[in-house]
This record gives sequence, structure tokens and C-alpha cells, in this order.
Amino acid sequence: MVPTQLAEKKSFQFLDLKAQFSPIREEIMAAVTRVLESQHFILGPEVSAFEQEAASYLRCKYAVGCASGSDALMLALMALGIGRGDEVITVPFTFVATAGSIARLGATPVFVDIDSDTYNIDPAALEAAITVRTKAIMPVHLFGLAADMDGILEVARRHSLPVIEDAAQAIGAEYKGKKVGNFGVISCFSFFPSKNLGGAGDGGLITTDDAQLAQRLKLLRAHGSRSKYEYEILGVNSRLDAIQAAILRIKLTYLDDWTEGRRRNAVRYRDLASQFGLDARIGLPAELVGYKHVYNQFTIRVKQRDDLREFLSSNGIPTEIYYPFPLHLQPAFAGLGYKPRSMPASETASLEVLSLPIFPELSGEQQESIMSSISEFFE
Ligand SMILES: Cc1ncc(COP(=O)(O)O)c(C=O)c1O
Repeated sequence: MVPTQLAEKKSFQFLDLKAQFSPIREEIMAAVTRVLESQHFILGPEVSAFEQEAASYLRCKYAVGCASGSDALMLALMALGIGRGDEVITVPFTFVATAGSIARLGATPVFVDIDSDTYNIDPAALEAAITVRTKAIMPVHLFGLAADMDGILEVARRHSLPVIEDAAQAIGAEYKGKKVGNFGVISCFSFFPSKNLGGAGDGGLITTDDAQLAQRLKLLRAHGSRSKYEYEILGVNSRLDAIQAAILRIKLTYLDDWTEGRRRNAVRYRDLASQFGLDARIGLPAELVGYKHVYNQFTIRVKQRDDLREFLSSNGIPTEIYYPFPLHLQPAFAGLGYKPRSMPASETASLEVLSLPIFPELSGEQQESIMSSISEFFE
């Protein structure tokens, strides 16, 4: 008995990317070989094909590949001409790149607190943050759940402000039947390996329905150059590699199956939570009518979060905390002058959230052992 348990503990991972790679190994290797044989590594036909396939999957007009999700956000802001003296509204409960991209360009991130149930921007708090310097609103679809786009777009329209979606964690997620990436003037995706569509390294994508913006984004990602050594505008080097594009083209064909796997696991967690009588003890992720959650993370909420995490770890169960510190209290953003308790929902979430393994290949037995351990913790 003991050796089996030990063997299982050893193989238990928070995210098992080898389990995803193994069944598609041959296809991926063939795609990589194809690029190596072509010796065409920067942009080119693989990237153009991926951009078209991604645009078609996302049901938007234009998709522009770039070097990372962080760059996608920065390029989106650059394309809208946002810089020094401008303010962009976003949330403090997110990955650093959301606010970092704004600050990197010399603009000021203005934080609006989240809704405690969805972890996304609270549209009711949005309007009070708008000033004459506000140039854009950047909501995040955190953990794979779309933000309340009707509420956000209503405020944005009233103030004639563009919306930039940070959809880094939410490819394939839907809001009222429409995929994320179609609500903002520009939307940004990440292909960091742990994302639902992950590359073999860094990669990002920017989507828009505006032909002029798409052209501008293509210029900006390649030093502002349309033809060799002629620079129309000042850009950066942020291109998607052909090898990444070739790999992502294969993986995109599996994305919906993987999403279904994540959603099936989420249902199983909910069922197990009821079976173990945990509904009142742990806060489960919001599953709202009209939203399709793609569960990049399955994040529960527990007051005794750190003790539970330690207990699970001692039982061989890996968990993660996204995010242990909200951005408005980070040293990197100290210059903005936010004080503790200014964003109460984000600050409390940072103390209570715990993400459980949710990758598509996770087995029912593994999920059962996780919920059983959580139940043991509360006994
Ligand atoms: C919400 C959010 N925004 C932006 C990014 C940045 O993406 P990347 O890591 O590809 O630069 C990430 C990735 O972790 C993210 O989760």
C-alpha cells in the first residue's frame, strides 16, 4: 500500500505538460522539423497561417502574433498612442504584466478593485476612477472567466474610452455567446506554456476588428518597418517565432477538447465538494449564466489558506497562489501612492485564494484525493 501511495505522490503535479505533449508528440516534432528544414525562423508563412487560424478560431477579423502576452499589452497601448501623462484603468489583482505594460510606457495605472465573487473588475466602481487623463480601460478575464463586459462597455461608451482586453488567461472563454477578444478595440493573449494554449516558450497575440489598428500593430512589432530599413514609426522587436507558430497551429486544433477537459474537471470538483460536505467551507469559482469559464485556474477561497496549503503539500498535493500580493501594494508600484486597505476585495482575495490542479489530463482519482485531503484538513 505505502509504495503505491508514494509512487502516486511523486507523479502528482500542479500542471503536467508532459501528459499533454505525449499524445501529440509526433505532430509537434513534424511541425518543428518543417520549420527547421525551411530555415525560416522569423514571421513568414507559419506565423501568417497561425494568425489566420487564430483569428478564425476567435471569430475576429485580425490577429497579430508577437513575442509574449506582456508585449501584446504594451503594443496595444502603443497602437492607441498611450504614454506619459495618460491614465489607464485596470485591476490590482492580476499578473504584474497588466499594470506593468501601462507603467512601462510612462502612463499611470489607475486601480479599480475587483468583485470578490468573480475576481474581475467591479464595473460599479469603474466610473469613479475616470478622470480627464483616462485614455483606456484594461479589464482582465482572470483565471479564464470573462469580466462583466456589458457593465464595462456601458461605462466605456459613455466616456468614449477604448477597452483593451487582457485575455491572457482566457482563450476560448465566452461572454453571452461571444468569445473574449471581441469586446475590446484591441485584445491580448499569451501563449506562456502554462496557458490553456501554451507554446514551447514565450509568445503572444493581439486581436482587433480594425484594419488600421491591425496594420499599426504589425508595424509596431517589427521596429515600425514595413520595408527593410525604412522606419515609419518607432516600434520594438516583438515578433512571434515561426517555430512557436508551427507548434501553436497544431495545439490550436486541440484547444476545444482541452477546454472541455478543464470544464469537466471543474464540474467534478464541484460534485466532490458537495459529496465531502465542503460547500460551506470553501468558496468555489463563480460559474455564471451566460459565461463560459475556461478554467486556466480552479481557484478556491479559504480563510485558513496558508495552513490548508501546507497540509495539502505534506500530503503530496501541489497548489499555487495566484496572487499572494495585489499589485497596488508591490514595491514596483509604490510610486503610485496606494495604501493598505484601499482595495479591500483584492487584498482579502490575496490572503484567501488557493488554486488547485485543473489541467485536462488530471484524473478523477487525483481530484478525489485532493478533495478528500481538503475534507481531512477541516476535520
Ligand atoms: C493576466 C495576464 N496578463 C498578462 C500576462 C503576460 O503574458 P506573458 O507571460 O506571455 O508575457 C499574463 C501571463 O502570465 C497574465 O496571466
